[in-house]
Amino acid sequence: MNKIIGFIGAGNMGEAMIKKLLESDDFNKQSIIVTAKTVETRKRIENTYNVTVLEDIKEIAKNADYLVLAVKPHQYEGILNQIRNELKENIIIISIAAGISSKFMRENLNNKTKFVNIMPNTPVMVGEGMIALYPNDSLTEEDISNLLSIFSIFGKVEVVDETLMDAVTAASGSSPAFVYMMIEAMADAAVLLGMKRDKAYTFAAQAVLGAAKMVLETKEHPAVLKDKVCSPGGTTIEGVKELENKNFRSAVINASIAVANKSKSMNK
Ligand SMILES: NC(=O)c1ccc[n+]([C@@H]2O[C@H](COP(=O)([O-])OP(=O)(O)OC[C@H]3O[C@@H](n4cnc5c(N)ncnc54)[C@H](OP(=O)(O)O)[C@@H]3O)[C@@H](O)[C@H]2O)c1
Repeated sequence: MNKIIGFIGAGNMGEAMIKKLLESDDFNKQSIIVTAKTVETRKRIENTYNVTVLEDIKEIAKNADYLVLAVKPHQYEGILNQIRNELKENIIIISIAAGISSKFMRENLNNKTKFVNIMPNTPVMVGEGMIALYPNDSLTEEDISNLLSIFSIFGKVEVVDETLMDAVTAASGSSPAFVYMMIEAMADAAVLLGMKRDKAYTFAAQAVLGAAKMVLETKEHPAVLKDKVCSPGGTTIEGVKELENKNFRSAVINASIAVANKSKSMNK
């Protein structure tokens, strides 16, 4: 793809995306331009990825065809104020921030500027991200199709209605943190049972990866897949009983609702 993709911000999410883009066939170091707030981050990104790193965010805005705003939600307004009148013609501004709505983007950009709201998660770094894309009427069918093909570099992309933004934040934006907690706990148990720690992480993480693939590829209901692991009077059902005793599913549902509520309270 003969397009320049710019990043304002190169923290957890910005850097994860830069890394993955560079591994793809469609982008290379000449097609990525980046800025960050501190000289430390700018130097680190330049040294690690050999991409063009600029100090002035306006220079990024003037040169990018796609511009990812990889800064915290509360910084959006200030950044958009600085770049609103400096944008390359036909640029598409990409919001990846939790709680930033298309209404907010429209209000903070000039009338004709194209933009899109996207909700990624950190597994974009390994090409297994789950990305929700909320299009709006600033975009043509071709723009949407180009965005889908760019974001499919990072994993699965689904076009969803903006009303589902908080649900997406819970289901895929924040949920990797819950899964990491589960993997850590599974590994701790394996260590307690005598397994070496590095092996314990491999066993736990591969079990989670395999289970996730089973859900996606067999399309069977998760409860059916669970039932297939639980033989009558066997080992697994003992563990399932413990999780039910501790309200495991209810805890996960409540954690997800808490994420969605927080996201809703932050919505702009
Ligand atoms: N982390 C996730 O799992 C996740 C998931 C979905 C969506 N998101 C969204 O992704 C966005 C970024 O999150 P993050 O976790 O990557 O945050 P982060 O690690 O704190 O990174 C923020 C980046 O923004 C840069 N920055 C701050 N102010 C700036 C300015 N005035 N000009 C240029 N760069 C500036 C920072 O520069 P320095 O490094 O120099 O300080 C840093 O590189 C957020 O809006 C978040 O909602 C994150």
